[in-house]
Amino acid sequence: MDLLLNFNSISTLFFLLSLLQFSLLSSSSTLHPLAAHSANLHRNYTAISDFRLLNRRKLINCPPKNFFVKIDVISKSTSLLNEEFVNVTVSGIPNPSKDHWIAMVTPSNANVDGCSLNGFLYGQTGDFSELPLLCHYPVKAAYLRSDPDYLPCNNKGCVIPPVDGKCEQVTCSATLSFHIINFRTDVEFFLFDGGFVTPCLLYKSKTLSFQNPNAPLYGLISSIDSTATSMRLSWVSGDEEPQQVQYGEDGRIQTSQVSTFSQNDMCNSLLPSPAKDFGWHDPGFIHSAIMTQLKPSTTYSYKYGSEKVGWSEETTFRTPPAAGDENDFSFIAFGDMGKAPLDSSSVEHYIQPGSITVVEAMKEEVERGEIDGVFHIGDISYATGFLVEWDFFLHLINPIASRLPYMTAIGNHERDYVESGSVYILPDSGGECGVPYETYHQMPTSGKDQPWYSIEMASIHFTIISTEHDFTINSPQYEWMKNDMASVDRSRTPWLIFAGHRPMYTSIQGSLVIPPSVDPSFVAAVEPLLLQNKVDLVLFGHVHNYERTCSIFNNMCKGMPFKDINGIDTYDHNNYTAPLHAVIGMAGFTLDQFSEKIESWSLSRVSKFGYLRGHATKEKLSFEMVNAMTREVEDSFNIIKAQIP
Ligand SMILES: [Fe+2]
Repeated sequence: MDLLLNFNSISTLFFLLSLLQFSLLSSSSTLHPLAAHSANLHRNYTAISDFRLLNRRKLINCPPKNFFVKIDVISKSTSLLNEEFVNVTVSGIPNPSKDHWIAMVTPSNANVDGCSLNGFLYGQTGDFSELPLLCHYPVKAAYLRSDPDYLPCNNKGCVIPPVDGKCEQVTCSATLSFHIINFRTDVEFFLFDGGFVTPCLLYKSKTLSFQNPNAPLYGLISSIDSTATSMRLSWVSGDEEPQQVQYGEDGRIQTSQVSTFSQNDMCNSLLPSPAKDFGWHDPGFIHSAIMTQLKPSTTYSYKYGSEKVGWSEETTFRTPPAAGDENDFSFIAFGDMGKAPLDSSSVEHYIQPGSITVVEAMKEEVERGEIDGVFHIGDISYATGFLVEWDFFLHLINPIASRLPYMTAIGNHERDYVESGSVYILPDSGGECGVPYETYHQMPTSGKDQPWYSIEMASIHFTIISTEHDFTINSPQYEWMKNDMASVDRSRTPWLIFAGHRPMYTSIQGSLVIPPSVDPSFVAAVEPLLLQNKVDLVLFGHVHNYERTCSIFNNMCKGMPFKDINGIDTYDHNNYTAPLHAVIGMAGFTLDQFSEKIESWSLSRVSKFGYLRGHATKEKLSFEMVNAMTREVEDSFNIIKAQIP
C-alpha cells in the first residue's frame, strides 16, 4: 500500500508536470490552447476502447494458480503461416468466469507483468487513470465468454483421472479464433483472470514462430512522377539484405533500397510516448525498388523477394495514364480508413469498423480493372503508436495497393505530437510523428518530414498537401503549394484537384476545444490560393462523413451547380467562380452524424461508409459517392469545362 501511495503521489506530480509542459507549449501556439488540457475530449477524439485502457488499470493480487489449465493453439502447420486463423483452446478451468480473457502477445519475450512505472506515461495523454497494467501492449484480446459454450460449461473435461469411473473434478473449456498475419516476431497467448480492469496472469501458451519471418509481404505500388514510366514498389520483410522485384514479360529486375526505423526514431516529449514504449513493435525492414522502362496505362506482372527469403506470389499492377494523356482516367479517393480485426477479438486498439467493407467494395472495382489510382488523404492506419497495427493495415489494403498506385496524404494520426514540429499539439500520432508513415508510404515528396507533392495523371493535376505542417505565408509548404498550383499547364492537365486532411468546410460542429475543421489560419492563408489558381475541386477527410459544397469562397456560395439532363448537379467551370469542396472521411472510422442545422453552402450530406469514385475526361469530371455496403451511388456531381485551345 505504501508503494501504491508513493506511486500515486509521484504519478500525480508527474501528471501536473506534464500539464505544465502542455501549458507552456500551448502558450506559444495560436492553436486551440485548451486542447491539451482536456482528458475527456482527448478520449473521445482518439476513441480509446476498453482494451486500450487496459494499460491504465491497477493490478490486484492474483488468485492461486490452477495447475489444470492448458492452452492449445491449433495452427494449419507446425509453424505459423503468413496468414491464418488459429484456434486457441483454453481447457482445464473448474470455474468459468466472465472475467477470463486471453491476450495474443508478440514478441514472445514481451513483458506482460504489471509495470507500475508506466503510470508516468499516461499523464501526457490527459488520462487520469492510475497504474498501467502490462508493460507491453497485447496485439489482440478476447474474453473466453465470447465462446457461447464457455460459461454454461458445455464442453466438459476431467483433469483428475476417473476413480471408479467417476470424475472428481469437472473442468470447462473455450475455443476462440484469432486472425494472425506475419508480423515476423514470435507469438504467445496469455490467459488472464480479472477482466480488463484488474487482470491477473494465470497461464501462458507455448511460443509460436512464423514459418518464414523474412517473407516478402504487403507489396505497395506508388507513382514517383507523372510520366508513369517508372513506379515504386515497397514491401516488408524481416530480412535486411536487399531483395529484388522481377517484373514484365522479359523479367526485368530491380534491387531494393532498404530502410527501417527504430524505437529511437519515435517521438517523445517529457514523457515516453506509446510508440516509444509499450506500443512499440519491430517493423522489420521496408524494401523499396523503382521499376523503370514502363509504359503508361499498361498492366505488368511482378513478384518480389529473393532466393534467400523466398518470393511473393506473382501478381499484376497497372501503371496510370501519363500526364496529359487524352484517355479517360478513373480514380478512388477517401480519408480516415484504418483497419478492423477479422476475427473474434472482442476489442483491439483503435478499430475503424467500416474499413473492411470499404476495402472489399474498392477491391471489386480494382479487380474489374476500372480504377487507375487511389488517393487516401490522411488518417491512414490509425496505428497511433501501436506499431504492429501498421502490418494489419498493409495486409488489409494489399489487394488494392499491390495493383495500382496507392497515393497518400498525411493526417493528424500519422504526424501530430507535442514538441515535434506539427502544427497541432495534440498527441494524435501516439509518438509516431510521421516516421512509420513516411517509411511505408514513400511518396514523391519535397523531403523528409515535408509530405507535400503533386502528381499528374491524364487530365488531372493533384496538389497534395499536409494540414499538419506549417502552412503560413512564406513557410516552405506555402511557397511550394503556391508555386505548384501556379505552374500547372492547364492545356495539358485542365483539371486541378487540391487535397489535404483537415477540412475547411464541414457541418459537423465539434467543440470549441477540438473543432473538426482545419485551423482558421489555414483557411486565411490557403483559400485565396485555391481561388487564384482556379482549383476545380478540394478534397479533405478528418470528418467522418461525406459532404459537398457549392462553389465556395470565404464561407459564401459564389456559384451553384445546375442540373444536367440526368438531374445531376453540374458545376460549370467555363464560368468559374470558386472551387467546390468535398469531405470524404467516410472510409472506415465510426461515422459522424449530421445535425439538423444545414449550412447554406452544404449541398449534399451522406453519413455512410464509402468512397468517392472519380472519372475524368478533358472536358468533364464526374464523381460518385459510393455506399460500400450497398454499392449504390449516394451522391453524384459533375464539373465541366471547355478545353483550352
Ligand atoms: Fe484526422
